Amino acid sequence: MTKKNQTLGEFIIENQKAFPYSTGELSKLINAIRLAAKVVNYEVNKAGLVDILGSSGDINAQGEDQQKLDVLANEKFIQSLTNREIVCGIASEEEDDFVVINSKDNNHQNKYVVLFDPLDGSSNIDVNVSVGTIFSVYRRITPIGTPVSIEDFLQPGRQQVAAGYVVYGTSTMLVYTTGFGVNGFTLNPAIGTFYLSHPNMQYPKDGRIYSVNEGNYVHFPVGVKKYIKYCQEEEEDRPYTSRYIGSLVSDFHRNMIKGGIFIYPKSSLSNNGKLRLLYECNPMAFIAEQAGGRASDGYKPILDVVPTELHQRIPFFCGSENMVAKAEEFIAKYN
Ligand code: AHG
Ligand code: MN
Ligand code: MN
Ligand code: MN
Repeated sequence: MTKKNQTLGEFIIENQKAFPYSTGELSKLINAIRLAAKVVNYEVNKAGLVDILGSSGDINAQGEDQQKLDVLANEKFIQSLTNREIVCGIASEEEDDFVVINSKDNNHQNKYVVLFDPLDGSSNIDVNVSVGTIFSVYRRITPIGTPVSIEDFLQPGRQQVAAGYVVYGTSTMLVYTTGFGVNGFTLNPAIGTFYLSHPNMQYPKDGRIYSVNEGNYVHFPVGVKKYIKYCQEEEEDRPYTSRYIGSLVSDFHRNMIKGGIFIYPKSSLSNNGKLRLLYECNPMAFIAEQAGGRASDGYKPILDVVPTELHQRIPFFCGSENMVAKAEEFIAKYN
C-alpha cells in the first residue's frame, strides 16, 4: 500500500510487515543505502567546486581510469554498509575482489551480501551530466558463522532480495524493489528526506525511444544493426527517437518513465559488451521485470544467467517488453 509523499522511512516501516522473513535487517540495509546516497549526492552536487573532479590516477579491475568520485562513492557506500551489522560481504566495481565484513561478535553472523556500482556514468562527472549508483542484494547461501565466500556473490539475478539505483540528476532519486514492485523516492535536499514521488513504477509495454551508442554501429552484430535500422525507418509509429546519455542509470530511468529500450550489445570489439552482470545488469533487470519490463542478453533473461566471475560482462537489452522482444526477434533471425 503506498501513500503519495510518504517518507522513505515511513514506507520502509509500513512495508516491512510485508516481509515474511525480515527481522528488519533488509530495512536497515535500505537505510544504510539511503544515508550513503545522501552523502554521495552532496559530493556530486559540489563536485565542480572542490578538487573531486578528474582521475584518481589509479586503474580499476576493469582497466578503467578510476575517477576521484568513483573512489569516494565506493568508500562512502562500504563505510555505511559496514556500520550497520547486516552485511557479511561487499562486491564493487571499484574493488578487485569481494570484501569480507565480519559481525561485531567476530562470528560472521550477518546475512546479506551487497554488490554495487558506486558511481555509474563516470565519464559524465566532469561534464556535469547525471550519474548514478546501482546496488544489488542477496541473502548469503554459505553457512552463517563462516566468512562469506565467492558463491554468495555468484548467485543468479533471480535470487536477489532487493535492487535499486540512485540517480543524481536534476533531482536526486532513489528507486528500488524488494520483489513487491518498484517505487521511486525523490530527495528534498533542503531537509535531506526522501519522499515517495513515483509509487508503483511501471515500464510501458511499448515505447518510441531507443538508447544505444551508435558510434559503435560498425562493430555491432548484424541482428543489432538491422534492429537499429528498424527503429529508424519510416513505418507505423517509427522512426523512433534516439536518446543516449552515457549513464546506464539515467537512460534506464528515462525509458522506464517514458517507454524505451536500452541496448549495450556485444561487438567485434568486445564479445560480451561492456556492462557488468553482477552490479549493473542484474539489479537493473530485477527492477525492469518488477516494473513489467524485460531484460535479456539478446537471447535469454538476464536474471537466469548463472554468473562465473565478479566482474564478468554481458550484452544487455532492457526496457519496454515489446521493444526488447522485437530486438530479440532480429537477433534470432540474423545472428
Ligand atoms: P561506469 O561509469 O560505472 O563504468 O558505467 C558506465 C557504463 C554505463 O553507465 C553506460 O551506459 C555505458 O558505460 C556507456 O558506455 P559507452 O561510453 O561505451 O557508450
Ligand atoms: Mn567504471
Ligand atoms: Mn556503471
Ligand atoms: Mn561505475
